[in-house]
Amino acid sequence: MPIDVEQARRDTAGCTAVTHLNNAGASLPPRQVVDAVVRHLRLEEESGGYEAAIAETDRIEHVYDALARLIGAGPHEIALQENATRAWDMAFYGLRWQPGDRILTGRSEYASNAMAYLQTAQRYGVRIEVVPDDEHGQISVPALRELLDERVKLIGVTHVPTQSGLVNPAAEIGRVARAAGVLYLLDACQSVGQLPVDVREIGCDLLTAPGRKYLRGPRGTGFLYCSERLQDRLEPPFPDLQSAVWTGPDSYRVREDARRFESWENGVAGRIGLGVAVDYALELGLPAIEQRVTALAAGLRDRLRALPGVRMHDRGLRQCGIVSLTVDGHDSLELVRELRARRINLSVSAVGSARWDLAERGLESVVRASVHYYNTEEELDRLCAALPAPRPHSRG
Ligand SMILES: Cc1ncc(COP(=O)(O)O)c(C=O)c1O
Repeated sequence: MPIDVEQARRDTAGCTAVTHLNNAGASLPPRQVVDAVVRHLRLEEESGGYEAAIAETDRIEHVYDALARLIGAGPHEIALQENATRAWDMAFYGLRWQPGDRILTGRSEYASNAMAYLQTAQRYGVRIEVVPDDEHGQISVPALRELLDERVKLIGVTHVPTQSGLVNPAAEIGRVARAAGVLYLLDACQSVGQLPVDVREIGCDLLTAPGRKYLRGPRGTGFLYCSERLQDRLEPPFPDLQSAVWTGPDSYRVREDARRFESWENGVAGRIGLGVAVDYALELGLPAIEQRVTALAAGLRDRLRALPGVRMHDRGLRQCGIVSLTVDGHDSLELVRELRARRINLSVSAVGSARWDLAERGLESVVRASVHYYNTEEELDRLCAALPAPRPHSRG
């Protein structure tokens, strides 16, 4: 079933106020999500925070079920977190390292992941190797296969990078990882909610995503998928009352399911909102969402191609809803600021968010226009009409 765009826009108050093309930053939430969050905050106001959580146990448990359904996992394989970076950290910092261990990653790896690799390399003498891209700009699967040996402890890859429309071949990487018996951690921050993502099809052991991006959930939410196979092999870096039980004066026992990576205190209202956002996406269907998002982004790329001085920087065989561009002679940050003043929301990916990719390509920053299914052709026209004419001298 194709998406009922009019209905989706009626559900989204922000659609009447802004042209929101910053869905890779944080999407506009539907009213169902906002209502669920507010309703729970009211319940906390009226009955007490702990008491409200007890009263809403079913809704809270539903978040695990909904996320599990979304990504083809079991509810016991889901840990809720306050953002995707913490979810990723909980998995990554649960690994034990020896000098000489190797991490294989891609050029599009997200900044925070790359810095965690660097810190681990400095602390433990681990080697980080960035797998080259293939001729399409996606991670080269043959090159990845070539680099494997018994010292490789982790393949850590970003599915859809923060800075471009590229979709890395996650399932092909999964087949390589499985064949080699190497742990596979997939950063699916920009893909969950805009593409069908199934952990069994992909073959990853660990996957992370936030709530606020393509899932349209509240800010301050995210989750980790940790495969059942792995749960007794990965120690939570910070045991607490949620992740473990203090069993004796000198002992504690870690939980057996993925909630071993959670912490006790959390934003319950946001989590409930996340569950509603996942239900909303599942109701529309991820294939229909992908189809609409991909078509809108392709339409935007066609329009931009016709504009003088506009350069597009997306690579990859398969491209998604993120469109990265620069306008000759215009600073990306300034351009985004000017358009925001006209209620057109875009964002900037600066070199520091994806240094192994952007710096290699000589890009200091790019403007990121990221579409969602509730965007319209008219909004794309509005963006193109609002883009400035090129200036003769580039200022970056
Ligand atoms: C590819 C990618 N990974 C990780 C993150 C970090 O997610 P969060 O801000 O929820 O920690 C982002 C955020 O933009 C991202 O684009």
